[in-house]
Amino acid sequence: MTKPPAGGSRTGRKLGQKVKKGKLKASSRRWIERHINDPYVQRARLEGYRARAAFKLLEIDEKHKILDGARRIIDLGAAPGSWSQIAAKVTNSTDADPRVAAIDFLEMDPLPGVRILQMDFLDSQAPEKLKEAVGGTPNLVISDMAAPTTGHRQTDHIRTMHLCEVAAHFAIEVLAEGGHFLAKTFQGGTERDLLNLLKQNFKQVIHVKPGASRAESVEMFLLAKGFKGRKAVSADGVTEETTDEATGEAAGLEA
Ligand SMILES: C[S@@+](CC[C@H](N)C(=O)[O-])C[C@H]1O[C@@H](n2cnc3c(N)ncnc32)[C@H](O)[C@@H]1O
Repeated sequence: MTKPPAGGSRTGRKLGQKVKKGKLKASSRRWIERHINDPYVQRARLEGYRARAAFKLLEIDEKHKILDGARRIIDLGAAPGSWSQIAAKVTNSTDADPRVAAIDFLEMDPLPGVRILQMDFLDSQAPEKLKEAVGGTPNLVISDMAAPTTGHRQTDHIRTMHLCEVAAHFAIEVLAEGGHFLAKTFQGGTERDLLNLLKQNFKQVIHVKPGASRAESVEMFLLAKGFKGRKAVSADGVTEETTDEATGEAAGLEA
């Protein structure tokens, strides 16, 4: 059961700490104060997660049960790796039988049971490499990708939305029937075409804002549950059967 952390006493560190005024800019000092006083940061340290983001995934799962029955998982924008830690645990992934593939252009420390690709997800080779790394048909694709900030809010927004769209197309390309797709997006930012595409390919599409996602942040998550199967449905509603490249037959799905 994931409960919002109540306070700092269990972590051995008190909340409400201040950073001394010194050479730091006021904005940097505020960021550090917020970080060290964040109960989710403290709880992540206590429970051995690499990032507070772990609690976003756990809270979403608590309500929407997306990790239940997950057998193979692809984690997009995975560094430093807290979602991959959870993914490896729920799939019983091991180095001998890896069931989790993770990608990030940042370096990520190794994790048992996780095949890590250090590359840009937008690289044309990334989809094939991820499919190969996960070792079978995934039934969960999770994306916490956010574009590096440029300082120009609208540009950052557009770039992250683009990542979300490319991730959605990838999920539709790789998921097993019944699988789920979770991706970071922004409040009010999800394009109508993307929503339509997801609605045509998944049984349920919703926006979620977990408690661990800071209230002042425009971050939201787009959750698409119950992949309907490998039919390419474009945003205008046209359905085309895809064909298996090797056999030329309609592409089937692993149950
Ligand atoms: C919020 S962090 C992910 C945190 C992660 N879910 C965790 O639990 O540790 C977002 C990550 O997305 C990565 N990212 C952004 N754009 C990317 C891209 N085009 N390809 C690969 N990774 C990307 C960033 O490098 C960053 O590490």
